[in-house]
Amino acid sequence: MDYGEELRERIEGVERAIDRLLPGAIEPSARLHEAMRYSMAAGGKRLRPVLLVSAARLFGGGQKGDPLPAAVAVECIHTYSLIHDDLPCMDNDDLRRGRPTAHRAYDEATALLAGDALLTRAFAILAESYAPTPALAASLVRQLADAAGSRRLVGGQMEDLLAERGSGATPEALRYIHLNKTAAMIEASLAMGGLCGGADAGSLETLGETGRELGLAFQIVDDVLDATMDTATLGKTAGKDARSGKSTYVSVHGIDEARRIAREHSDRAIASLGRLPGDTAFLRWLFETLVGRTH
Ligand code: IPE
Ligand code: IPE
Ligand code: MG
Ligand code: MG
Ligand code: MG
Repeated sequence: MDYGEELRERIEGVERAIDRLLPGAIEPSARLHEAMRYSMAAGGKRLRPVLLVSAARLFGGGQKGDPLPAAVAVECIHTYSLIHDDLPCMDNDDLRRGRPTAHRAYDEATALLAGDALLTRAFAILAESYAPTPALAASLVRQLADAAGSRRLVGGQMEDLLAERGSGATPEALRYIHLNKTAAMIEASLAMGGLCGGADAGSLETLGETGRELGLAFQIVDDVLDATMDTATLGKTAGKDARSGKSTYVSVHGIDEARRIAREHSDRAIASLGRLPGDTAFLRWLFETLVGRTH
C-alpha cells in the first residue's frame, strides 16, 4: 500500500467536497464568494479534513454519517482562522499557501468578511448535511463550536497576541497557547471523524488525547520551520516569529529542545493511536511524516 497515493486520494475527495459545499463564485455577493474560494482553494496540506475522514474509517468509515461534509466544515474554520491570523492587526502576513494572503489579494474588509462567512458556512454545512441524523448533527456542532470558540482556538489566538505584545510567555503559558490555537482543531477533527464513524465514548476520549498530542507536536514543528526554512518552501514568510517577537517553542526552549519536545508529543500521539480499533497504519504513517515535514 502506497500511503502517499492514499493521502492524495483522500485530499482529492476533500477538495471535491469543498467545491460542492461552498457557495458558487458568481453567486451574489460575487466578490465575497470569490474571496472565500480564493483562500479555500489555495491548497494547504488539508491535514484536519484528512484526519477527520481517516478517523471515521477506523470505525468502518461513516457508519453513522458521511464524514466529508464535517471534513469541509473543519477546513472552513481552519481557513477562516488563517485569513484572520494573517490580517495586519494580527500576524500581518503577506503570503499564505504560496499566494498573497486574502487581504493582499483583495483588501482587509473583504478578507475579514470572507473569514466571517467561512466560519458561518461551517455550521450551515453541518446543519444541512446531517439533518437526517439530528443527534449526530448536534454532536458535531458542539465539538466544532467548542474547539473554535473562546475557550480554545480564539482564546489561544488572544493569548498568542498578548504574549507578543507583552514580555513573552512562560513555558506553561506557551503550552496553553499551542494547546488552544492549534491542538483544539486537530483534536476536534479526530473526534468528529469518530462521531461520524460511530465511535464509543472510550474511543472518542482516546481520539481527543491523540489529537492533543499531535496538535502540540504540529505547532511546535511549525515554530521550528518558521525559524529554519525559507519562504519559498514554506509558502508563508519565514523568520516571521522572531521578527515579530512571538513566543514560540524556539524562542522559549531553543531549536534543539523544541525538536525534542515535538518528537516526544508525536511519540505520545502514536502510542495513543495504537489504543484505537481498526487499521491505524495510515494515520501512523501520516503522524510520522508530520514531524519530519518541511512546510
Ligand atoms: C497553519 O496550519 C497554522 C498552524 C496551526 C500551524 P497548517 O500548517 O495546517 O496550514 P495549511 O492548511 O497546510 O495551509
Ligand atoms: C496560527 O499559528 C494558528 C491559527 C491559525 C489558529 P501561527 O500564526 O503560527 O500560524 P502561521 O505560522 O501563521 O501559519
Ligand atoms: Mg498567529
Ligand atoms: Mg501566523
Ligand atoms: Mg507559525
